[in-house]
Amino acid sequence: MTRDPSEQERKPAYQVIADSRPKGTYRGAVVGCGRMGSTIDDEHVGMPHYPWPWAHAPAMIEAAGVDLVAGVDLDRGKLDDFSRRWGVKALYVDVREMVAKERPEIVSVTTRPEERPDVVAALAEAGVKAIFATKPMCLTLVQADEMIEVCRTNGTILAMACHLNWYAPYTAALQLIERGDIGPLRSMVGNTTHSLSNIGSHTLALFRMFAGAPASWVSGHMDDDDQALGDGDLAGSGYVVYENGVRAFLNSHVPENTWSLEFLCERGRIVSRNHHATFELWMDEAGEKGLRYDVQRMFPYPWRPRSSMVDAIEGVARSIEVGQETVAPGEYGREALEIAIALRESHRRGEIRVDLPLEDRSLELGARP
Ligand SMILES: NC(=O)c1ccc[n+]([C@@H]2O[C@H](COP(=O)([O-])OP(=O)(O)OC[C@H]3O[C@@H](n4cnc5c(N)ncnc54)[C@H](O)[C@@H]3O)[C@@H](O)[C@H]2O)c1
Repeated sequence: MTRDPSEQERKPAYQVIADSRPKGTYRGAVVGCGRMGSTIDDEHVGMPHYPWPWAHAPAMIEAAGVDLVAGVDLDRGKLDDFSRRWGVKALYVDVREMVAKERPEIVSVTTRPEERPDVVAALAEAGVKAIFATKPMCLTLVQADEMIEVCRTNGTILAMACHLNWYAPYTAALQLIERGDIGPLRSMVGNTTHSLSNIGSHTLALFRMFAGAPASWVSGHMDDDDQALGDGDLAGSGYVVYENGVRAFLNSHVPENTWSLEFLCERGRIVSRNHHATFELWMDEAGEKGLRYDVQRMFPYPWRPRSSMVDAIEGVARSIEVGQETVAPGEYGREALEIAIALRESHRRGEIRVDLPLEDRSLELGARP
């Protein structure tokens, strides 16, 4: 989809669709044919508020300009199920063999973070044009640095499947802020009990896109002292200051199952509630006798609902055409992991300020118990 809602208003519908499609057609593959690669939408029956699909295989099938041609998994049973669901006949247990035989240009890496660094390196070294990798990116910053470097040296685009960054209501919110309708962004608030790295990486990738600058320092307070001593993923609250002065507040002391985000600007704010189900626009407006009011206005929802994963995959195809990824590049995935680790570090050291980048790149977060 086009990222500019004002352009959508000016153009006829067929033109908006034509302009937002990738120009070329690309061969796509999925490595990791489990929940995120293939089956997760089975879990979403009865949850209609969000446009599906989320799983990479159906999203790739639905995306314009990408043909799903192959699947890779170590588990033969998963491959058989993948083939039955999506009609894919080219099935492999080895990534390198798949790339050699199928020559895909876009590959989704929907394995778990433990396996992701090796799979990403294999794909980049084999000359794949774009890798679309699920979150969290990996477990350590050494791994994240290496993943970014191997993609850079091989000319491979690395995009994170933090698909909310492509979700059209957030795109509309960002455009509204960039147009200056509610003034410059001052701070962001994320209310959620989710773990900092696994689900938190979605929030942090969004915050990075809205902030428009890298994070500079953090301080954190974890929910559980014992968990903070270990390497497992954990929930916690924290404060993040970006290089341009924008601030983010992560609040984990909220009701279970909360996920709401707020973007506070100089002359208004945008709120997303209930796991991105509803969006609100509030504007600061002049009243009588010099008083000012916070008035709710119609949020400029996109003109049609679209799956963020489909939009993301088309976005990755377009990133091949322009030669760079700007919506959720690997650097955003690394920063999400780095902020989560730094928040835990802050807690461990007595809730002090921790500057980024972290010197100790070997610190780990998110290992399976
Ligand atoms: N909304 C989201 O963005 C979202 C939602 C759910 C999960 N995820 C992420 O997706 C990732 C996968 O989670 P899942 O729940 O789908 O896990 P899963 O275990 O269901 O699937 C992972 C699959 O990868 C396969 N695999 C492992 N190593 C491999 C290798 N070297 N080559 C090929 N296949 C290999 C496994 O056999 C398994 O089938 C995680 O990082 C998770 O955080 C993202």
